[in-house]
Amino acid sequence: MRVTLRVNGRMHDVDVEPEDTLLSVLRSDLGLTGSKFGCGEGQCGACTVLVDGQAMRSCVLRVDALASKEVTTIEGLAQGERLHPVQEAFLDAEAFQCGYCTPGMVMATVALLRANARPSAQDIARAMDRNVCRCGTYSRIVKAVQIAAE
Ligand code: FES
Repeated sequence: MRVTLRVNGRMHDVDVEPEDTLLSVLRSDLGLTGSKFGCGEGQCGACTVLVDGQAMRSCVLRVDALASKEVTTIEGLAQGERLHPVQEAFLDAEAFQCGYCTPGMVMATVALLRANARPSAQDIARAMDRNVCRCGTYSRIVKAVQIAAE
């Protein structure tokens, strides 16, 4: 079936199978490989994108349910050469090691700060709790969120 998706402000017509996930369409059909496949079960957060501004796990979202939604991926954050403030904060805090979880962490942070511009350490821990970093750079990730909130 054919679905029209709005991703990062652009419309895309894609042929999909009913069981296709948003993550597979982003990566395989649209070439947007910033969102990562980790667990494929909605558990790790590596595939986090924004759907109408809310952080969502794209590996468990059926693409046919997103026709009227605005999807934002990590590729949609920067304005030309200028990184998004959350991306800058992650760089400033060196909040990554291998970097695999970083796009999902950044998208979760963007959603958090839209909902709560001045999160407490507890708010940050609660919001980021379901995003996994196998390298264990959590303290620097929290620092990045705090820098982004300044
Ligand atoms: Fe989607 Fe892990 S790959 S939550």
